[in-house]
Amino acid sequence: MFGKWFNWHRADRQINEQSQEQNIDMDRLPQHIAIIMDGNGRWAQNRGMPRTFGHRAGVDALRETVKNCSDLGVKVLTVYAFSTENWKRPTDEVSTLMNLIIEYLQREIEEMHKQGVQVRFIGDIESLAAPVKSEIERARARTAKNCGLILNIAVNYGGRGEILTASKRICEDVTQGKIALNKLDENLFAQYLYTGDVLEPDLVIRPGGDYRISNFLLWQIAYAEFWFCDVLWPDFSSKHLVEAISDFQRRNRRFGGVNNKT
Ligand code: IPE
Ligand code: IPE
Ligand code: MG
Repeated sequence: MFGKWFNWHRADRQINEQSQEQNIDMDRLPQHIAIIMDGNGRWAQNRGMPRTFGHRAGVDALRETVKNCSDLGVKVLTVYAFSTENWKRPTDEVSTLMNLIIEYLQREIEEMHKQGVQVRFIGDIESLAAPVKSEIERARARTAKNCGLILNIAVNYGGRGEILTASKRICEDVTQGKIALNKLDENLFAQYLYTGDVLEPDLVIRPGGDYRISNFLLWQIAYAEFWFCDVLWPDFSSKHLVEAISDFQRRNRRFGGVNNKT
C-alpha cells in the first residue's frame, strides 16, 4: 500500500520536474496524444522470457503514462492495446492479452476514477468474448461522468475497419432517410467513427523502433505530428513523454497553409 502511494508520488514529481527542465510550455500541450504501445515481445525476448512477460511489463508503462498525461493536463490519451490484425498471433498470446485487459481494468479502475479519468473504448468491442466485454462496459460506466483525462483504449481496433463500419452505417442512415447525402461532409462522417466527437490526435507516439502506423486511427491522423523512438514500450517513461512533447512544441504546423510567423 505504502509502496504504491510512494510510486505515484514519485511519478508526480518526475513529470513536473522534467517538463520544467525541458521548458515545456504548459499552454501549448498536445491536447490529444495517441500511442502505439509497441515492443513488449522484444523487451521480454531480450531478457530470455516469453513474450507474455513483456505484455505484463507493458501494463506498468501504461499505468505510468496515464498518470503522467493526467498530471500534465493532456485532454485525451488514446492507446493502441489490440489491433484487428493481432488475432493472427498464437492463441495463448491472444488469450493472455485479453486477460491482461480484464486484469488491468479490474485493478486500475478505482485509481483512475479517483484521478477523474474517463475511460472509453474504440474498436469492434461487440465481437469480443463476454468476460472482456463486460469488464469494458463496467469500466466505461464507472468513469463515464468523470471530467479529467479521457483515456481511449483501442481494443480489436483497425483503422480501415472503422472507416468501413462508419460508411456502412452512413449508407443505412441515408437509405432510411435519417440523413441526406448532400449533408454528408467530413465533420458528419467523423461522427460515425468510433472516436465520435473526440478531438483528433495532434501527437502520435510510436516506441519500439518501427516507423509505421499499423492501421491506427487512419482518418484521425490526417494532420497529426509523429514521434518515433527505439525504446521498447515497457521502458517508455516520463522522460520519453516529455521529450516527445518538447519536440512537438518545436514543430511548425501549417495544415497546408503558410507559416504566418515568417
Ligand atoms: C505490442 O507489443 C503489444 C501488442 C501488439 C498487443 P508487441 O507484442 O507487438 O511486441 P513486439 O513488437 O513483437 O516486440
Ligand atoms: C501495433 O503493433 C498494434 C498494437 C500496438 C496494439 P503491432 O506489433 O501489431 O504492429 P506491426 O505488426 O509491427 O505492424
Ligand atoms: Mg509489435
